[in-house]
Amino acid sequence: MQITPDLSRLLNELETLASFSDAPAPAVTRVVFSAQDLAARTYLRKLFSEAALEVRTDAVGNTFARWVGADPALPPVATGSHTDAVPHAGRYDGTVGVLGGLEAIRALQRSGFRPRRSIELLVFTSEEPTRFGIGCLGSRMLSGTLSPESARQLRDGDGKSLEEILRQAGFDGSLENVRLAKDYYHAFVELHIEQGPLLELKGIPVGIVTAIAAPAALRVTIEGAGGHAGAVLMPDRRDAFLAAAEIALAVESAAKGTRSGDSVATTGVCKVFPGAVNSIPSRVVLEIDVRDIDLARRDGMLSAIRAACETVAAKRQVRAEVELINADAPAQASPLITKALSASCRTLGIEFMPMVSRAYHDSLFLSRIAPAGMLFIPCRNGVSHRPDEYAAPEDIKRGVQVLAVALAQLAE
Ligand code: GLV
Ligand code: MN
Ligand code: MN
Repeated sequence: MQITPDLSRLLNELETLASFSDAPAPAVTRVVFSAQDLAARTYLRKLFSEAALEVRTDAVGNTFARWVGADPALPPVATGSHTDAVPHAGRYDGTVGVLGGLEAIRALQRSGFRPRRSIELLVFTSEEPTRFGIGCLGSRMLSGTLSPESARQLRDGDGKSLEEILRQAGFDGSLENVRLAKDYYHAFVELHIEQGPLLELKGIPVGIVTAIAAPAALRVTIEGAGGHAGAVLMPDRRDAFLAAAEIALAVESAAKGTRSGDSVATTGVCKVFPGAVNSIPSRVVLEIDVRDIDLARRDGMLSAIRAACETVAAKRQVRAEVELINADAPAQASPLITKALSASCRTLGIEFMPMVSRAYHDSLFLSRIAPAGMLFIPCRNGVSHRPDEYAAPEDIKRGVQVLAVALAQLAE
């Protein structure tokens, strides 16, 4: 079987997809269900139809594009990723797994291969937590990790409910129907940029993911007392932002305090109300991301942050309400997938190494319902979630080849 990805077409499609953005190039901002995200979805559906794939969407906007196999009754083999992008991101995160997955399917079609199992390309809704505070929304619901009741509680920053936003975007099915059965897919493989520096440092073109680190997120709402920045004297203040600043430092200490290089914690959102230079901050909302490959250590950081919130609140006479957004277990890759990927690399003569994913991915949740795994390609300087994110064309091409051969083997 000769797998020759059409690299120039794929690079063109990546470029076109990057143009659906609320930030000027090279930055990409594509928040889920924004006008740009909806336009990008229309563009993708056109590409899927041109490849003769059967397209459907579910009630949360996950998109499924199926190349129907010779035995359509068999559980399909699936691949895919996400196309939403964090504010001021680059063009490769998630998109390489979607458009690269599409090109893998087209290359297999061109090769004359006919799969026994159907091969399905997935585009997951809102892998990024930007709008609703929770990552992997679509795959969380597909796997039953997030219930329809909990999804109905989700609000965006403007207080709009997920269901209201879905209806406006044209998705009016029942959230109850999103969850898939445990044997729905035979296998799931996701192609993604590494988002770290190891492959580039070692000069190895492919990483086969063995495990995905355990992510968690907290939202901390701090209520102090506002007032006039000139008139309220320092001893009389209950400044919500200063409490937030101490909590953010405690977040850093929680991660450094484990003395493990695998512990990371980030305060990535800090919303200050009312947000005027001459008003004392009365309320602050923090969103905090906490991860580790060791679940107990990750939970230890969460406890340390909660304790710091209590201590700081008492000291500064503010209220600090801590909300757990998610605390997920890590995932191990399925041997079915790691073996298919390593066999594919050997067939193609491509060097690979096993690695842990420190970023989370939709594969974390697909692994709850199907044998799942991932392959990584290098990205320049390990940079991601930045406009200068870059993956070299040759690396993208190799990733697509390895994916295509693995999909073919899994679909036999
Ligand atoms: C995914 O974008 C992550 O934050 O790991
Ligand atoms: Mn991302
Ligand atoms: Mn991603």
